[in-house]
Amino acid sequence: MAQLWGGRFTKETDKLVFNFNASISFDQKLLKQDLEGSIAHAVMLGRQGILKKEESRQLVAQLRAMAAQLEAGELEVPQTYEDVHSFVEAVLIERLGDIGKKIHTGRSRNDQVALDMRMYTRMEIRQIDGLLEELLKTILTIMKNHIQTIMPGFTHLQKAQPVTLAHHMGAYFEMFKRDRLRMRDIYGRMNYSPLGSGALAGTTYTVNRSFTAEALGFYGPCLNSMDGVSDRDYLIELLSALATAMMHLSRFSEEIILWNSNEYQFVEIDDAYSTGSSIMPQKKNPDIAELVRGKTGRVYGALFSLLTTMKGIPLAYNKDMQEDKELTFDAIDTAKGCLALFNGMLASLQFCPQNMRASAALGFTNATDVADYLVKKGVPFRDAHGIVGKIVLDCIEKNIAIEQMPLDQLQAASPAFGSDIYQAVSMETCVNQRLTIGAPGKEAMEQAILAEEKYLEESGFPQEDWEGALLEGALDEWLP
Ligand code: ARG
Repeated sequence: MAQLWGGRFTKETDKLVFNFNASISFDQKLLKQDLEGSIAHAVMLGRQGILKKEESRQLVAQLRAMAAQLEAGELEVPQTYEDVHSFVEAVLIERLGDIGKKIHTGRSRNDQVALDMRMYTRMEIRQIDGLLEELLKTILTIMKNHIQTIMPGFTHLQKAQPVTLAHHMGAYFEMFKRDRLRMRDIYGRMNYSPLGSGALAGTTYTVNRSFTAEALGFYGPCLNSMDGVSDRDYLIELLSALATAMMHLSRFSEEIILWNSNEYQFVEIDDAYSTGSSIMPQKKNPDIAELVRGKTGRVYGALFSLLTTMKGIPLAYNKDMQEDKELTFDAIDTAKGCLALFNGMLASLQFCPQNMRASAALGFTNATDVADYLVKKGVPFRDAHGIVGKIVLDCIEKNIAIEQMPLDQLQAASPAFGSDIYQAVSMETCVNQRLTIGAPGKEAMEQAILAEEKYLEESGFPQEDWEGALLEGALDEWLP
């Protein structure tokens, strides 16, 4: 049990207390960020004359050596330390003696952990954005290939009107696009550095917060040191955005499960993304889609846990906040895993256009268009609605589609019917006459696809020159 704060204590910490309090088992995920943040802090201490340049230089050299060991998988993290911050300081002391003891000058673990967590989250936001981008590309490819693939559109899970597969996929494109925009949005609000906030009230050393903020790729320092150490809004925002993205994945999964069922047969999930049954030899189950749907609950849970944890915490730092890590790490890892797997499943999904078209044709999905035909011939809409309702009833009895009903029988229902009705209510006409912005008609869909393509071209996070730079020699001019 190695702790930073033995001085004012006269007894050893109880073993159970130590374990309950310790976070090393999970916050070692922040090791790289802790090293980068410590390098920026050490350089700044030398630059400001708070430490001698030589001391600062040695600290930076050792921190970089640790980062190289970490990269090579050669840095063992003993679980006897309280947390990742204690571990890093202990190694510096072991390697540098008294100089190592100076790294924590003008710094608290409170601003340190707040910094590490922001840097970690920031990196993950960029990765999640990349995964969402990949998924959008897959969806767009399906859209381009299926502008003319007719399928039933549903409301209340009842066949409603004919749409196309491109149109249905386009709805998911919009959802995941918004998920990406939320990542950008959160990034823009959270990318401010808490380093230099101290424990809560800043510090009496002449630390340069703007210098460390810029070196670490932040837009600037956070403007209130109490808020700097105790703000976890950005994690709540991220968990909320991930919960929403998971909700979208879950809805999509639910549709794929339905479409893959014996009753629908709209799609066939690739063997690589299906599983079998231990007893029923015929089964090919959509387990991956079901698991994505199921894991949505975990991410919702993380959001609600953190909201609840934060709601009673007085300013500034309190240990409750340590709970933010496991929740956030699990939600991020879950969402990233689901995005990657779902994308693979979608990219290899086989669509069955004939079954989709047959389903649309046999479901009276053109009934609205038959009514609209009568309206164009001068029948008031409400009357047309009633006439077509009666025709549908008749068709159900005869087990035929409306367009299979002979003209004389249609004319018996309304004299406004002419022989042009059959062309007017074919599936193709029904879809392709829907040309309002956002509708499934061919030209409208092509416009939408162009707009989504343009969005994708301009959408990525820019590569930043600070990424990894501190581990490789950035700022060395301050430590000659
Ligand atoms: N492990 C702690 C956390 O995750 C680090 C900060 C500890 N600060 C403190 N005053 N005990 O929140």
